[in-house]
Amino acid sequence: MKKIITIAIDGFSSTGKSTVAKRLAKALGYVYVDTGAMYRAVTFYAMQNDLISDDAFDKEGLIAHLDKVKVNFKFNENLGFAEVYLNGTNVEQEVRNMEVSQFVSQVATVSEVRQRLVKQQQAFGKDKGVVMDGRDIGTVVFPDAELKLFMTASAEKRAQRRYDELLERGDKVSYEAVLENVQSRDLVDSTRKDSPLVKAEDAIRVDNSNMTLDEQFEFILKLSEEKISA
Ligand code: DC
Repeated sequence: MKKIITIAIDGFSSTGKSTVAKRLAKALGYVYVDTGAMYRAVTFYAMQNDLISDDAFDKEGLIAHLDKVKVNFKFNENLGFAEVYLNGTNVEQEVRNMEVSQFVSQVATVSEVRQRLVKQQQAFGKDKGVVMDGRDIGTVVFPDAELKLFMTASAEKRAQRRYDELLERGDKVSYEAVLENVQSRDLVDSTRKDSPLVKAEDAIRVDNSNMTLDEQFEFILKLSEEKISA
């Protein structure tokens, strides 16, 4: 008998979590949930409403707006994965830009934001059969997940991958700026008070600095299949 399980993938920014998580979900016929996109969508809302800028972050203002911030996903048949929507508008492209990346860690420190998004994530995964990636999935969202992975890679490798991705999209950024963003997000994400990025005790560490995408996928698929048929 095959079991339906929950797969939690946490780790540092730009470790390629979402690429491997998407592929894994497809192979297993599971739903993929990119929780980072949810924090990014709230950040995009904050930017659009002048609640966050280089100079200031109106945290209380954002908290007061939270009832008006609806984040959802809709499956795109052509792309083969769900895109993120903010108040009914597809913001999948917008939430990936460098500006959002610069502010998102600050927004993710706000407990009121986290509580709402965590609740929604738990609802998405209540019937299992999900692959969810983020920073606190194995520790806070689904502490009982049957399979937990913690992805890491050197900051330089991660920055290079992110830089290549941004260039491919046509964004004009420097490698140095991307590296700095990766490092500062690591610091904020792992030192914040509420749900810092830490490896769950029972998570399997995957350092993919020297692994190809296929190698990571095969490794994680095997671990998943072991859990599913256990
Ligand atoms: O995975 P990502 O780089 O798209 O995530 C964007 C930011 O959101 C990241 O800097 C930290 C935050 N985040 C979080 O705090 N908790 C999650 N479960 C997912 C993301």
